[in-house]
Amino acid sequence: MGFDPITKRKTIRKFKDIEIEKEVALSLIEAAIQAPSAHNFQPWEFIIIDSDEIKEKLSDTMALTWINNLKKDGKLSNEINGRINLSKERITNAPIIIIPCFDTSKVEKYGDERDNAEFIMGIQSVALASENILLKATEKKLGVLWLCAPLFCPEDVRKVLDMPDHILPQEILIIGFPDENPIKPKRRDLSEVIHLNRW
Ligand SMILES: Cc1cc2nc3c(=O)[nH]c(=O)nc-3n(C[C@H](O)[C@H](O)[C@H](O)COP(=O)(O)O)c2cc1C
Repeated sequence: MGFDPITKRKTIRKFKDIEIEKEVALSLIEAAIQAPSAHNFQPWEFIIIDSDEIKEKLSDTMALTWINNLKKDGKLSNEINGRINLSKERITNAPIIIIPCFDTSKVEKYGDERDNAEFIMGIQSVALASENILLKATEKKLGVLWLCAPLFCPEDVRKVLDMPDHILPQEILIIGFPDENPIKPKRRDLSEVIHLNRW
C-alpha cells in the first residue's frame, strides 16, 4: 500500500525554520475547497498569514484576552506566563499560517430553530475543508498544528485581520516542515466506539 496520509497524519508542534512559499499554502487551500459542504454553499474563506508583523500583532492581541481568562480562572502568574509565552512563540515562529473561516452569511436562514442546524452544518463544512488541509499537508511531508484559540477570542482575530463580524475564524493552522517526530497519540479501540444497530 502507498503512503496513507490518514494514518500518517499527526499533530506537529515544532517546525524547522524553513520558509513555506505562499504557493504551497495555495495548494493546501486547493485541497480544502474540494471538501463537501451543506447545500454546496462552500461557506469557507481562508486567510494566509506570512507576514511577521501580522503574526506578532495577532499573537499579542489574542494573548491579552487569554491572560484575562486565565486570571479569571485563578491561575498563578507563573503558569499564565508559561502558557502565553508558548502560544506567542508558536504563532510568531510559524513558517506559515492558514486561518479557515466560516462565512455565516452563506448559510440558510429560516428564522426558527432550524437555523442552529444550518449553523452547525456551516461549521462542519469548514472543518471538513480544514481536514483536507491537514491531509494534503501530510502528503507533502508538512506538519500542521491546529490551534483552537480563535474560537475563544474571535473579536481579537477580526480586529487584527480586518474581518467583518459575520466571519467566524475557526482555528489557526500553523504549517511547516516538522522538526520533531512525536508518537501519534493512541486511538480508542474500534470496539469502544462502534455501536451496532443501537447505542
Ligand atoms: C478542534 C481541535 C482543536 C485543537 N486545538 C489544539 C490547541 O489549541 N493546541 C494544541 O496544541 N493542539 C490542538 N489540537 C490538536 C489535538 O491536540 C490533537 O489532534 C490530538 O491530541 C490528537 O493528536 P494527533 O493530531 O497527533 O493525532 C486540536 C485539534 C482539534 C481537532
